[in-house]
Amino acid sequence: MKLNLEKKVVLVTGGTRGIGKCIVAEFLAEGATVCFCSRTAATVEAVEKELSAAHPNATCHGAIVDVSDPAQLEAWVSSVAAAHNQIDVVVANPSALSIADTAESWNACFQTDMMAARNLIQAALPHLEQTKGSIVSIATVSARDVDFTAPSPYGALKAALIHYTAQLAHTLAPKGVRANSVSPGNTYFKGGVWEQIEHGNPALFASQMKANVMGRMVRPEVADAVVFLASERASFITGQNLNVDGGLCTGVQY
Ligand SMILES: NC(=O)c1ccc[n+]([C@@H]2O[C@H](COP(=O)([O-])OP(=O)(O)OC[C@H]3O[C@@H](n4cnc5c(N)ncnc54)[C@H](OP(=O)(O)O)[C@@H]3O)[C@@H](O)[C@H]2O)c1
Repeated sequence: MKLNLEKKVVLVTGGTRGIGKCIVAEFLAEGATVCFCSRTAATVEAVEKELSAAHPNATCHGAIVDVSDPAQLEAWVSSVAAAHNQIDVVVANPSALSIADTAESWNACFQTDMMAARNLIQAALPHLEQTKGSIVSIATVSARDVDFTAPSPYGALKAALIHYTAQLAHTLAPKGVRANSVSPGNTYFKGGVWEQIEHGNPALFASQMKANVMGRMVRPEVADAVVFLASERASFITGQNLNVDGGLCTGVQY
């Protein structure tokens, strides 16, 4: 399937490791120009170098941005638009990954999972309207099922993000802009949260492995779903939340 992403400009927040890095790499593999960010200068520089070398036919730009700071986020979006004259896709990826039921944790998730996504989308919207572009929000299966993270802000605020993304799908459809969410299940990669849990909390790791009915956790394959939904091959898909979880969620979606 040809995705026709070669002339597209894609913004991915939180692109230096884990799911975000895989998303950046998959868009580059499709020939897109990808601008990504994170808070850590050394990893931004290293990942830009690594992915540029791995994808010589595509362009990759890293930036140091804390998405929980609206001014930094807006300045980055403006600079990308000025440099490339277009924005076709935005992917709102980072999470505070905070599962404590404390005021501090609720505030961190609200700023990073919800408001940073909203601020990214709003800053990019004039450009997305021009290109009839596409929005993908990264949510989680913890928004669909009450799971081991409950009670906490994590699933609750990702549920808010899924709802807001669906609202955008409806309100922006007349302008040709699509908006979807992707909800990964437990995603295992080196240095990621599930490798940490494997060593730090083996009982939780074992119980989640049991719940993963396909016998494994999600791999970087979750990025394929994001790239497909962002592409014109998904041109009539909007307002959806796609679980990429190997059947982990037990609720039935109608
Ligand atoms: N891993 C899973 O099992 C799983 C399952 C379901 C859903 N998800 C969702 O998938 C998304 C990515 O998760 P992940 O596990 O890949 O996370 P991760 O390994 O913690 O990576 C997060 C990325 O975002 C960056 N980042 C974090 N906070 C940021 C901020 N305030 N401003 C800018 N960049 C920031 C990180 O770099 P710096 O720290 O250097 O800034 C890093 O590049 C999240 O929305 C998460 O909720 C993950």
